[in-house]
Amino acid sequence: MDIKVLTDVKDQKTEVLVINKFEGEKTSCELANTYAVEKDNFEGKFGQTYLLHTLGKIPADKILIVGFGKKDEFDANKMTSAVAKAIKKLQQIHAKEACFDFDVMCDYGKSAAIGALIADYAFDKYKTEKVTRVEKITFGKFSEAAVNEGIIFGEAMKVTRDLANEPAAYATPAKLAEVAKSLEGITTEIYDKDEIERMGMGAYLAVAKGSIQPPKFIHMKYSGITPKKKIAIIGKGLCFDSGGMDLKPPASMLTMRDDMSGAACVLGVMSAIAKLKPEIEVHGIIAACENMPGNNAYKPGDILTAKNGKTIEVDNTDAEGRLTLADALCYASELGVDEVIDIATLTGACMVALGTVASGIMGNDEDMISRLIHTAKESGEKFWELPMYPEYMNSLKSDIADMKNTGSRNGGASAAGVFLQEFVSGVKWCHIDIAGTAFLEKPQSEFISGATGVGVRTLLNYLK
Ligand code: BES
Ligand code: MN
Ligand code: ZN
Repeated sequence: MDIKVLTDVKDQKTEVLVINKFEGEKTSCELANTYAVEKDNFEGKFGQTYLLHTLGKIPADKILIVGFGKKDEFDANKMTSAVAKAIKKLQQIHAKEACFDFDVMCDYGKSAAIGALIADYAFDKYKTEKVTRVEKITFGKFSEAAVNEGIIFGEAMKVTRDLANEPAAYATPAKLAEVAKSLEGITTEIYDKDEIERMGMGAYLAVAKGSIQPPKFIHMKYSGITPKKKIAIIGKGLCFDSGGMDLKPPASMLTMRDDMSGAACVLGVMSAIAKLKPEIEVHGIIAACENMPGNNAYKPGDILTAKNGKTIEVDNTDAEGRLTLADALCYASELGVDEVIDIATLTGACMVALGTVASGIMGNDEDMISRLIHTAKESGEKFWELPMYPEYMNSLKSDIADMKNTGSRNGGASAAGVFLQEFVSGVKWCHIDIAGTAFLEKPQSEFISGATGVGVRTLLNYLK
């Protein structure tokens, strides 16, 4: 979709003029007031829409009124949903082009562009018959700078959603490495199996062993001109999680191509960061591999040595994400950064706790956790803190190694959190569990089914 900005779109010749209505107020258009508001009692509750043919009375062929709800409750995130709603409606009526003329107090250009691009998204690459799309929209009133920033965010989300939606046969570790290398303004280092071994990443390597797809350890770096802070973001990059020798049942395995959603998020963020140019240094890290039950697969009872020397007894080969992250966290802890954030489709337990609505967040620094939760809220995403009491380590006690990779099913998201913490040293760290939020089995709010690109907006705003 092509997104443009014009100072005045009111008298523009267009297929559809999209305007807004707050509850209890008139719209900015006389025609809409006469027919929709006075004659038809269109209230303008949030998310309601009303379509009106203009019969040549104004240059636009049709007017689409979007309900904005109560004026004092309106905010940037509502703008995102409202524009998404409008785009869905435009798709339904097969409109190819539209002008948006919203009568609002702030420059909501960024949120509006994000909403348009979220709703415009479709993964129809493998469909013979393509989805009907709105080809071009023009925003009146908003600044070009705000809209352009929204476009950067929206395009980053598309990078993430495309990669996570792709079948595992396409989005292999090597493919992720190739994408990382292609990013403009980013320097990328790829480490192959031998180098991963030399770095002592015994936990990550064990997970990768059962697959014919070779692992790729990806380290991307963006450096602002005068960096004021250094941050590393790590994405779980399981290009497919079959469960390994502890094989998943078919229903659970079906969507496991999404187990690299964290990695896809990091790639989306890195693709946008060089365009936003914040004055920081950002490291994007992915320990990419597949978890397969091949001949050489790691087994329950194996003992692995992570990069920091700690040993892990494999209790369940399906708790593989934390093993790959363990070595990635050791690696990131040695970079001399101020903060490390990992984002991962880590536990079914987090999905049980928070559903598809919120992502779980844990960490070793309360201030960093609250800043991330706050940023998520402002970005239209929901992060909810889960506890990391040291007692959660009790169920991970091993008789023969420093710890096991799983213990009790209860409190599984927190157990994974305290496990990860064993591999973080000397740095502020947060862990975001997106097992429930990264991939939807059915549509939810402005998202179609499939990958959501969760984390991209929050991390980009956080880095900015
Ligand atoms: N990738 C899964 C977690 C997951 C589950 C993500 C559902 C998205 C949706 C992870 O590797 C996994 O298999 N976790 C196990 C851990 C268990 C063996 C302790 C789980 O949650 O069942
Ligand atoms: Mn697993
Ligand atoms: Zn997994």
